[in-house]
Amino acid sequence: MDTTKSQALYERAKKVIPKGIHGHYGYAVTDASPVFFERAEGAHFTDIDGNDYVDWMCAYGPMILGYNHPAVDGAAAKQMAAGNTVSLASPVLVELAERLVDQITGADWALFGKNGADGTTLAVMVARAATGRKYVVKVDGGYHGAAAWMQTPGNPGSTPLDHELVLSVPWNDTAALQRVLDEHDGDVACFISSPYHHPVFVDNELPADGYWSAVETMCRKAGVVLIVDDVRAGFRIDLRGSHTAYGFQPDLMCFGKALGNGHPIAALTGSDALKSAATDVFYTGTQFFNAGPMAAAVATLDELVATDAADRITDLGERLNAGLVDVAVSHGHDLRATGVPGMPYYRIAGEGGAKFHARWIAACVERGAYLLSYHNHFVSVAHTDEDLKRTWDIADQAFTAIAD
Ligand SMILES: Cc1ncc(COP(=O)(O)O)c(C=O)c1O
Repeated sequence: MDTTKSQALYERAKKVIPKGIHGHYGYAVTDASPVFFERAEGAHFTDIDGNDYVDWMCAYGPMILGYNHPAVDGAAAKQMAAGNTVSLASPVLVELAERLVDQITGADWALFGKNGADGTTLAVMVARAATGRKYVVKVDGGYHGAAAWMQTPGNPGSTPLDHELVLSVPWNDTAALQRVLDEHDGDVACFISSPYHHPVFVDNELPADGYWSAVETMCRKAGVVLIVDDVRAGFRIDLRGSHTAYGFQPDLMCFGKALGNGHPIAALTGSDALKSAATDVFYTGTQFFNAGPMAAAVATLDELVATDAADRITDLGERLNAGLVDVAVSHGHDLRATGVPGMPYYRIAGEGGAKFHARWIAACVERGAYLLSYHNHFVSVAHTDEDLKRTWDIADQAFTAIAD
């Protein structure tokens, strides 16, 4: 694969942009990888060197119905033509809130922002306003955005003070959570967690039997607001919110990424009990009232329901995983797929470990299957049986190519 144009533009970018490609996109860049896209359609993108990829990263989650989805982009364009950022709110604000209240289990209201971190930040503020307490409890390795309090302690640009009020417990460890709640009795505002554990660099983990109902009970007893961060998994497990699939009811539910199929929109939904606190909190932004992305979100929700998206994505993901595991076995390798089928995290176990796995992933990318070695992947409604077959073939060729 030739990535000359991407790499040349990357060199140019480094002169005017710190790191060239900043943030999470930057981590994926190597000296041979594609860096810039030319166009995207359905579940594919083409880089600026003309290479076509089956995209299993889906822009890190937002793409759930396919790039350039006509109904979604059409709804956004229609709204934009009428007005996007105006001095008043658009009626589509109310329509979207009603839509989420109807669809998301336990949601009585909704507020909107742009990125997932808007929702998680607002959720924590609402929890603090409601309880008058200061501590946030999260899960070790859980990602909720890039604001200072969400950073890994020690990260450049954050200070110990940013983390002073953030406590952390291992995933699936109810005893540890209980200990923290006891140690800080009366001081913990909220427990925030994704519905299952999808950190980077390690196998993803589903909730243990009884985990979420135990957490819910503990939070209720301690007067702690339970926040589910469904920014990444939202709509890929259950269209009513992932908590519905896992049988528990959070007080606050955060959505982003897939909600607008690529248009910038995030939402916080919550229970009636927290509506008054949510009313009191001032957290907003100049672009929070963009009407175009809201229209895109309404159309996305319609399409997700019409295509039975979560079940379809789960089925596709199960087949993708089974096929890749078979290919790996045929080459004598033990490929593990963890997390939910719609967001598989892959790891080749055994000798060679992470290095061998990274080489295999790079060989897949070179051949046109866009995968990442250290992050969960994303399956979309737009992926086809042909994409599955092409990916299995590429995986097969990649194992052969790196055999020695
Ligand atoms: C679980 C989770 N929460 C929050 C966020 C933050 O979302 P954003 O990057 O849109 O601010 C992410 C982003 O990856 C996420 O995966």
